[in-house]
Amino acid sequence: MNEHIVLNRRDSIIEIVINRPDKRNAINWAMMAALGTAITDAERLAGARVVLLRGTGTGFSAGIDLLGFQDAAGQFGEGWRDNVFPLTQAYQNIVNQFERCSLPVIALLHGYCLGLGMELALACDFRLAAEGTKLGLPEARLGIIPDVGGTTRLARLVGPARAKELILTGRSIDAGKAEQWGIVNECVPPDDLLTRGEALAAEIMQAAPLAVSYAKRVINGLTDVERGLQLEAWAQNQLMRTEDFATGAQAMLTKQPAEWKGR
Ligand code: COA
Repeated sequence: MNEHIVLNRRDSIIEIVINRPDKRNAINWAMMAALGTAITDAERLAGARVVLLRGTGTGFSAGIDLLGFQDAAGQFGEGWRDNVFPLTQAYQNIVNQFERCSLPVIALLHGYCLGLGMELALACDFRLAAEGTKLGLPEARLGIIPDVGGTTRLARLVGPARAKELILTGRSIDAGKAEQWGIVNECVPPDDLLTRGEALAAEIMQAAPLAVSYAKRVINGLTDVERGLQLEAWAQNQLMRTEDFATGAQAMLTKQPAEWKGR
């Protein structure tokens, strides 16, 4: 596995924990790969019925590790910016595994759920959020778009107008509003987050496992996510080469406003 991704088992509930609190659970490539291994392992465990996904520390996840872009050359070759399709697809494939897992997956969100963290949560079947959690897809403030399914899955969940409201502004909303919009199933007091997640898992476990699994596949199959993922990858391939992206990520890390050039 990976020191930052932990797999726990409590009877039929499998818990995947993002555990890099000093970096606000920012997700680098090694963690992403470990998340893929974790969800595969969870699905294979005999008697497993429900997966819980949560983060340690002050929030669920601050999204992709912005410093990780500096290592992308090692992972995807020196010219990675000229063809980001392999990188985008590698991330998309792992997030897809959460959506395609035969077990239901419940994301437990607290603190903040941003960027890639939000994209991961959107691929889960349920989202419970602690009151006060900030949810958002701030990629446009970096000069890029959510390309790991976030654009497609948010639009599927809330419709184009609400999805544009979040994605085109890069704004975060709190858990209460996210519940009103249907992004989170339930907004709960912070101290109750885990127990409410376990209670939902227990309720699902009263239903028949194969029926749960097939119902999930049918509901997921109602939308053509694949076409959205291809469009996201196409758009990101244009954007990652821009000067604006080069300055946008730096601006986010240094908490300075970016000076956009439009190129
Ligand atoms: N990538 C890499 N490192 C990150 C990070 C990210 N996405 N988010 C936070 N960190 C790091 C910070 O650089 C800092 O590292 P340091 O201690 O070595 O200086 C550490 O995590 C703590 O971050 P800080 O901003 O001081 O924490 P905070 O509690 O005040 O704020 C957030 C938490 C999540 C609100 C804030 O970190 C944030 O806005 N992060 C960026 C979110 C983002 O834009 N994600 C990318 C979306 S595409």
